[in-house]
Amino acid sequence: MKDIYTLGIESSCDETASAVVKNGREVLSNVIHSQIDIHEQFGGVVPEIASRNHVDAISKVVQEAIKQSGITMEKIDNIACTYGPGLVGALLVGVSYAKALSYALNKPLIPTNHIHGHIAANYISHKDLEPPFLCLVISGGHTHLVHIKTYTEFEILGKTRDDAVGEAFDKVARVIGLGYPGGPKVDKLAKEGTPNIELPKTKFDNLDFSFSGIKTAVINLHHKNTEINKADLCSSFEKVVTEELIENTLKAAKKLKINKIALAGGVSSNSYIRKEFLELQDKGYKIYYPEPILCTDNAAMIASSGYYQSLQRKYADLNLNAIPNLKIND
Ligand code: KG4
Ligand code: ZN
Repeated sequence: MKDIYTLGIESSCDETASAVVKNGREVLSNVIHSQIDIHEQFGGVVPEIASRNHVDAISKVVQEAIKQSGITMEKIDNIACTYGPGLVGALLVGVSYAKALSYALNKPLIPTNHIHGHIAANYISHKDLEPPFLCLVISGGHTHLVHIKTYTEFEILGKTRDDAVGEAFDKVARVIGLGYPGGPKVDKLAKEGTPNIELPKTKFDNLDFSFSGIKTAVINLHHKNTEINKADLCSSFEKVVTEELIENTLKAAKKLKINKIALAGGVSSNSYIRKEFLELQDKGYKIYYPEPILCTDNAAMIASSGYYQSLQRKYADLNLNAIPNLKIND
C-alpha cells in the first residue's frame, strides 16, 4: 500500500503546533510553539493574546515541521487541522492557514476534532493499539470517559458535570500559590507530601464525574489555615481525584467487558494518575497512555486522527469554519 503523509495543524488553545505523520502512526516531525511564558503573567490563557501569537507563529511552525520531517510539501497527501473545540479566535488561525494550504497545494483538507486527536495520541505511542477500547480523556477543558468503537466512532459513557480535571488542578495550584499551569506543579509538590487530609468524593449513579466539590474543599482548607502543608494538600487532592477517575473507568470496563484502557489529554501525564492506573494491570487490564509530549496539545495527534478519518474520505471544503464547542460525536 502507498505510504500516506499527513500534515497536522493545531492552534485550539495556547500551543501553535504542526507535525508530519506517516500512515497515522509514525511521527516524522512534531513542532510545538508554546505560549505558556506569555500567559503565565496573567495566571491563565488570554484568548485575544493567544490568537495574535498564533498568527505570528503559524507560518514558521508549519515550515519547520515540513523541514524537520525530511519530506517536501509536495509529498504531503492531506492536511488535518483542528477545527474545535477550543478558543474561536485561536482555532480560526489554524483553520484559515490549513484552508489556504489545501487550496494552494490542491490537497484534501481533513477537519479534525481536538478530542479525537488526544485519543489518537495513543496510536502513535502504542503501535499495537486498535479499537475497541475505553479512553479516559482528561485535559484542561475536558473530562470524558469514551468508548472508542472504531477509529472514527465514539460513544460518551460519562463526563464531568462541572470542572474538567485539569481545570481543578489549575485552580487549586493558583489558590495555593503555585502559579500557572498548575497541573505539573501540583504533580511535583504532591510527591513530597502524604495523602493524609480527608476530602469529599462525589458519586453518581451513572458514569459522570464532578471535581468542583473537591477543588472547593481544598481551597477552603487553605483559606482557613494558610499554614496547612501544601504538599499534603496536593497529595490528598490527587489521591481523591484519581480514585474517582479509576472507580468510573472500572465500572465502565466491567459494564462493557472491555479490558483495554487508554488515558489521554494533558492530565494523563500526571505521574500519580499513571502509577495508579498502571497498577490495574495486576487485575488483568491493559493500560495505555501516550508519552508526555503527546499528552499535552500537539499536532502529531491531530495528523494521526486525521489520517484515520481520511481513510473514510471524511474531508472538508473551503467553507470549513471553527466550532468552539464541537462535541466528541459531532
Ligand atoms: O490537553 P491539554 O494540553 O489542553 C487541553 O486540551 O485542555 O491539557 C492541559 C491541562 C492543564 O490543565 C494542565 O495543568 C494539565 O493539563 N496538566 C497536568 C499535568 N501536565 C499538564 N495536570 C496534572 N499533572 C500533570 N503532570
Ligand atoms: Zn488539548
